[in-house]
Amino acid sequence: MSDAITSPRIVVCGRIPAPAIDTLHTAGEVWAWDRDEVIPTDVRDWELATTDAAVTLLTDRVDAAFLDAAPRLRIVANVAVGYNNIDVAACRERGVVVTNTPGVLTDATADLAMALILMTTRRLGEGERLIRSGSAWQWGMFMMLGTGVQQRRLGIVGMGGIGTALARRARAFGMTIAYHNRSPISAEVAGELDAERLDLDELLATSDIVSLNCPYSEATHHLIDGRALRMMRDDAVLINTARGPVVDEAALVNALREGFIGGAGLDVYENEPEVHPGLLTLDNVVLLPHLGSATVETRTAMAQLAAHNVVEVLAGRAPISAV
Ligand code: DGY
Repeated sequence: MSDAITSPRIVVCGRIPAPAIDTLHTAGEVWAWDRDEVIPTDVRDWELATTDAAVTLLTDRVDAAFLDAAPRLRIVANVAVGYNNIDVAACRERGVVVTNTPGVLTDATADLAMALILMTTRRLGEGERLIRSGSAWQWGMFMMLGTGVQQRRLGIVGMGGIGTALARRARAFGMTIAYHNRSPISAEVAGELDAERLDLDELLATSDIVSLNCPYSEATHHLIDGRALRMMRDDAVLINTARGPVVDEAALVNALREGFIGGAGLDVYENEPEVHPGLLTLDNVVLLPHLGSATVETRTAMAQLAAHNVVEVLAGRAPISAV
C-alpha cells in the first residue's frame, strides 16, 4: 500500500494525559508507550521505523540515532518548553519540524520558583524534616529563624515569560526586582515591575536571591560556575528551576560548604535524575524532583499543545509553536 493512502502514524514516546491522545487520534493512527519508565531503545526504534510524527518527553534523547530510526518523520513535538533533549540542527537538516510548549507552563513554573524562594529563606524543608524525624521540639524564640523576603532584591537571570511571571509574584511579596537578559524587557513591563536591567556580575553581587529562568544552551552551560558563585553575597540564595547544567553542581556544593553563599533551592540537576551527593548532606538546600510544570492542568495543556502541533503539521499547515 502506498504512503499516499495510509493515514499518518504517530508515536508517543512516553505517557501523556488522555485528552492529548484523543487529539492525536484525529490526525492519524496512534501508538503510545504507556509506562512511566523511559521507552527502551529497541521498542522505540521499531515503532519509529514507520512513523510520521513523534511526541517526546524531556527524558527522550532525539539525536542522530533517533532520526536514523525514523526515515518518514515530519515532526518531533516535545512536551516541554525546554528542548535541550533534541538535536534541533540535526532535525532541521532532515526537514523535521521541532515544536515545544511555551506559555502554558509559565504560571506553574513561576509558582514553583516562588515556593522555592520561600522554602529556602524560611527553612521550611528543614522544619519539615525536623517534625518527620520524630525529634523532640517546642516553639522557641530563636528556633529555626529564617529571613523575610520583603525589601530583598530578587535578581532574575533570563527575563522571558517565566522570569516575568516570577517577578510579578515577588513584587506581591514586597521584593525589588533586577534582571539580566540579552535584550531589555518592554518599558511598560519594566515600569510595572520597577525592574532594573543589570549585567550578570552586578546582578550576582547585589541580589539577595538569584533565580535562574534562562533556557539551557551552550551559552548558558555552567553560567553559574565557581567564579559566579564567589561573586554572590555570602547570605544570598540561588534558585534553579531552569535546567541543571546552567549551574556547575560541584562548584555549588563547594560554595555552600565554604559559605560563599547562604543557600540554594533546586528543582533541576546537572545529571538528572542523579543529584550530587554533597547536596544531600546540606541543610541549607531545598531539593525538589523537577516539579516545575507538575500540575494536572499544566501537564494536560502541555500535552494538548504538543498534540495540536502534530495535527497541524500532519495536515500540511504551520505548527503552532515551532522552536
Ligand atoms: C519544561 O517544560 O522544560 C519543564 O522543565 C518540564 O517540566
